[in-house]
Amino acid sequence: MKASSLSFQAAVLFVLVGMAWGIQMAVSHNHAAFPAHAHLNLLGWVSLFLFGIFYHLHPSIDQSRAARVQVWVWIAGTAILAVGVGLVHTGTESAEPIAAIGSLVVFASMLIFAWLVLRRERYSALQAAAVSPAR
Ligand code: HEM
Ligand code: HEM
Repeated sequence: MKASSLSFQAAVLFVLVGMAWGIQMAVSHNHAAFPAHAHLNLLGWVSLFLFGIFYHLHPSIDQSRAARVQVWVWIAGTAILAVGVGLVHTGTESAEPIAAIGSLVVFASMLIFAWLVLRRERYSALQAAAVSPAR
């Protein structure tokens, strides 16, 4: 599966869970878990959808194993982070290591993404220089 397709599908699934969680918080008048809801939506919906757009714009990266790995690691990290932060904010202090592991996993995934973006942008700059050499 292309990385963009995986990103888009995972993003809509995450936002459905995130919105349901938001509605549950609103209905119950208990906003204790809001940082977990916020990060589930921002990492799981916004960031994943942005990754998907980037990959869709760059078909050769979209087909790559590195991009697929990056998205899967992000999906896993987001789920782990949301569960850990949710537990911590609803009274299970001992879940802090779960939140910490989740944050390190999404950070590792972002390092892969940064590498893919920087490599691509440097390659584009080199190509542009080759097409129109400086006089
Ligand atoms: C059905 C949809 C949603 C509902 C009912 C909902 C509900 C809520 C509630 C009740 C809070 C707690 C507010 C507080 O106590 O300060 C909250 C916080 C937050 N939500 Fe949502 N939410 C929804 C969708 C989303 C989406 C799609 C995003 C991101 C794209 C999002 C991002 C956030 C953020 C960033 C916060 C923290 C805001 C702050 O720092 O005060 N939410 N949401
Ligand atoms: C490794 C990843 C991340 C970690 C460990 C992290 C950690 C945190 C922490 C500790 C807070 C303060 C929470 C509080 O005081 O209750 C926070 C707040 C916030 N973060 Fe992050 N963050 C991460 C990634 C992101 C990303 C990628 C975004 C946006 C795309 C984001 C958006 C926000 C927002 C909007 C708030 C304020 C709302 C809230 O308190 O939940 N964070 N983050």
